[in-house]
Amino acid sequence: MSFVLLDHPLIKHKLTNIRNKETKMKDFYQNVEEIAGLMAYEITRNFPLKEVEISTPICDCIQHELAQDIVIVPILRAGLGMVEGIRRLVPTAKVGFIGLYRNEETLEPCEYYAKFPETITDSIVLVVDPMLATGGSAAAAISMLKMRGCKDIRYVGLVGAPEGVKTLQKKHPDVDVYLAALDEKLNDNGYIVPGLGDCGDRLFGTK
Ligand code: PRP
Ligand code: URA
Repeated sequence: MSFVLLDHPLIKHKLTNIRNKETKMKDFYQNVEEIAGLMAYEITRNFPLKEVEISTPICDCIQHELAQDIVIVPILRAGLGMVEGIRRLVPTAKVGFIGLYRNEETLEPCEYYAKFPETITDSIVLVVDPMLATGGSAAAAISMLKMRGCKDIRYVGLVGAPEGVKTLQKKHPDVDVYLAALDEKLNDNGYIVPGLGDCGDRLFGTK
């Protein structure tokens, strides 16, 4: 597994905005979307291309387009905040959904929804979720995708804890992990420190 920290200055600037507890829902959502887009630009850098023959107004020529379909799989709810930022750069990307919530006492992930495009098994799958805390949700989502036959899976998160990275390294050593920030630790309630609080609630105004 490769672990990549995408700490571009613009990403760091926008992360500061979403970490700030004074940032309200609309700006919070917008910054999450923008960070996801900036990360997608970096992550797609080595995606395979294929040659295609086209005609410009001047002549026929060989050009390039993405060789594989891309499927974005947000882990509901918070992962939804990252989808449009990536689709703006890759408008042909399809979207699958995995519904998981963390049991607040055991911190174990509970599945409540799954829906995927038919072509997902041969696609590059980007599992997106802003928060990698214990890593339980991410590991469960990746297992669900592997059970459906996905072979090329990458995890994209905004803020991670060392515990979450270790979980993914142990359970899914074949999956590349991309984060915008690696924070210090988890607190006793399983929240990332310093983190940004409850991402789903801040994106959707549920608290
Ligand atoms: C949050 C977050 C991740 C999960 C991370 O979701 O969006 O999915 O917790 O924690 P873990 O690494 O310890 O599993 P939550 O369960 O709060 O659901 P929500 O997005 O619906 O608010
Ligand atoms: N989920 C969140 O939304 N935030 C955390 O810090 C940990 C899990």
